[in-house]
Amino acid sequence: MVIIMLGAPGTGKGTVSGMLSDKLNIPQVSTGDIFRKHISEQTELGKLANSYISQGKLVPDDVTINLVKDRLQQDDVQEGVILDGFPRTVKQAEALDNMLNNLNRKVSLTVNLTTPEKELIERVVNRRICPKCKTVYNLILNPPHNENICDNCGNELVKREDDNESTFKGRLNTYIQETSPLVNYYENQEKLFSAVVSQSINKMGKDVTQDVLEYIKKKHIT
Ligand code: AP5
Ligand code: MG
Repeated sequence: MVIIMLGAPGTGKGTVSGMLSDKLNIPQVSTGDIFRKHISEQTELGKLANSYISQGKLVPDDVTINLVKDRLQQDDVQEGVILDGFPRTVKQAEALDNMLNNLNRKVSLTVNLTTPEKELIERVVNRRICPKCKTVYNLILNPPHNENICDNCGNELVKREDDNESTFKGRLNTYIQETSPLVNYYENQEKLFSAVVSQSINKMGKDVTQDVLEYIKKKHIT
């Protein structure tokens, strides 16, 4: 099973991917997390990625495509994978189709999350993440039990450097211009499941995860 998570920054791709990964017992691969690991280790790739990420721009397609190509060859993703944040351009989507084709696999489902814009910024600036186990918190909506400490593994929580208002605006623009055409790309392939994730309708990541699991069962998606 290959599930793609699509959505603007802050819609909950990481949150929903984590829950789906637990329920379906398949790994979550987040290109953003991979880049952040390289940035913290100050590798050459990290330095390159940071020059784009810090401006809210996408890391170039060829770099990202090669990274995912390597990751998809590894043993742990052969039974299934949740791609969180890839593809993000039509070129990446076409490359993914080719990669999977060569491995005799295909995209099973694309989960497209949408959230009203004014909620997104609030979520992102109040987000804290556990650098160790990757659990996502929100200081207002979903706070940890002990301030700044991960409920799951006890590690200290951190704030992402790109989670400030000005970089967020750049990220949102990049999403609208470069990534949102993928909604049509997967809709045309009849592989799209769209869900609104919003406090205004009382739908949180947990509810959306449940809806996705039911859809997978109903449609016999493998
Ligand atoms: P990436 O790490 O993927 O960031 P993003 O797309 O900007 O998305 P986020 O991680 O900010 O948001 P999310 O949707 O995962 O939301 P979350 O669950 O955390 O990418 C970072 C950068 O790397 C990119 O800008 C780009 O430069 C580069 N990059 C990555 N992939 C690339 C690619 N393929 N090609 C080129 N460049 C690439 O939730 C957000 C907040 O909301 C949290 O506080 C959470 O607690 C809260 N929340 C979540 N769900 C709910 C809910 N249902 N209700 C209320 N609050 C909620
Ligand atoms: Mg994320």
